[in-house]
Amino acid sequence: MQSIIQAALSRRSVLTGAAAVAGAAFVPEVAGSTALSAKEFTITARPGRAFLVGRGYPETDVWGYNGSVPGPEIRVRQGERVRIKVENRLGEETTVHWHGVRVPNAMDGVPHLTQKPIRPGETFLYAFEVPDAGSYWYHPHQRSFEQVGRGLYGALIVEEREPVAVDRDITWMLGDWRLGRDAQIIDDFGGRMEMAMAGRIGNTVTVNGGLPAPLQVRAGERVRLRLFNAANARIFALVFRNHRPLIIAMDGQPVAPHAPPNGRVLLGPAMRLDLLIDMNAEPGSRHAVRDSFYPTRTYTLSEIVYSGEPPLRRELPPPIYLPPNTMPEPALDGAERHEVAFGGGMMGLMPPHGIWSINGVSATGHVHEPLLHLTLGRTYVLALNNATAWHHPIHLHGHSFRVLARNGEPTRFREWQDTVFMAPRERVDIAFVADNPGDWMLHCHILEHQEGGMMGVVRVA
Ligand code: C2O
Ligand code: CU
Repeated sequence: MQSIIQAALSRRSVLTGAAAVAGAAFVPEVAGSTALSAKEFTITARPGRAFLVGRGYPETDVWGYNGSVPGPEIRVRQGERVRIKVENRLGEETTVHWHGVRVPNAMDGVPHLTQKPIRPGETFLYAFEVPDAGSYWYHPHQRSFEQVGRGLYGALIVEEREPVAVDRDITWMLGDWRLGRDAQIIDDFGGRMEMAMAGRIGNTVTVNGGLPAPLQVRAGERVRLRLFNAANARIFALVFRNHRPLIIAMDGQPVAPHAPPNGRVLLGPAMRLDLLIDMNAEPGSRHAVRDSFYPTRTYTLSEIVYSGEPPLRRELPPPIYLPPNTMPEPALDGAERHEVAFGGGMMGLMPPHGIWSINGVSATGHVHEPLLHLTLGRTYVLALNNATAWHHPIHLHGHSFRVLARNGEPTRFREWQDTVFMAPRERVDIAFVADNPGDWMLHCHILEHQEGGMMGVVRVA
């Protein structure tokens, strides 16, 4: 069913607008056989400067890939091999993790666990194949609460084998900063108090490393908007006034197109959502994009601004189903089930001590006794239990998993994710085939929580 819709859509003449035609003309040489080609990139982690809050303020000293925020957008095609040389010109060790990409363990970028950290002045070559299309990102895994917080992150976009029928493909990487009046980063990373609470939430939100610019559109356009939450701790809940965005992918993985619950596009740290937005409002009109996650701190993030041109087309075809990716389907009959309990955090006036834990253990580094030993090739159900009063986006490396149930209720879309958002006291069942051998991190992606011990290792062998 999906592939028929897909095929029909890609042949529709209505969507052979400028973008689609250009896409067809520039289909890279790799289409078809990809096994031998490798795409090469070099990125340098180094200090840089960025106009985070616009030209009216001084530039901010940041750490960035190639000195910029975000780092270069790496775009490849599904099935391609990539070779990415990472050079460290920071004053401290680093690594790069390819968040959400199912890479071989040695390429996963976890310091001491999968590789030696890259020392200042050294380089490391990451080489892997990208098995699945989707929206992924890259960031350090060494002292990430500070390195990511100072700007080290970038998008890694894996295009589908066949171009997807949209007019434009737009990336919004959401960042969060704590800036002083001089527009410089306030150097208070790793504070124990925040670590025990919601994490280090800043005072300035950026889109693609700058003041959010309005989204300029034409009526009748169909846009794919890829949202990335690259913040340490800030959670977003976006509302697109007068529009009805559909979620077509979660954490890079295709999902049946659906409107977000209550019209709020919820995005915890490290999560990605691909939205399909049909621009059906009037030419010349403007519409706010509001963030309302923290009820007392709602604000307008951006705006959709329509040109005065007449609509590009009168009617848009049915929503797009992205082609499925390559994860093996979990065999739920006879799957082994494990409880994973997340504990700790500050409640009432309890002092922050030990701070966070998984199954009672508070991690102090990336290497420790695995909390789970999984057999290669078997299906597992992990019953995640958020036994805390806080939100946690929980990320598993090396795999995508299906989200089966929340508080015992089956999910409607059994979505694939690599980072699952858990509300306080929520229980979430996830399932996956442990098909990628190695030691993989399981951790909260509120980076202060990870640093405060909410981290563990899952061994697949
Ligand atoms: Cu995006 Cu273990 O991290
Ligand atoms: Cu957390």
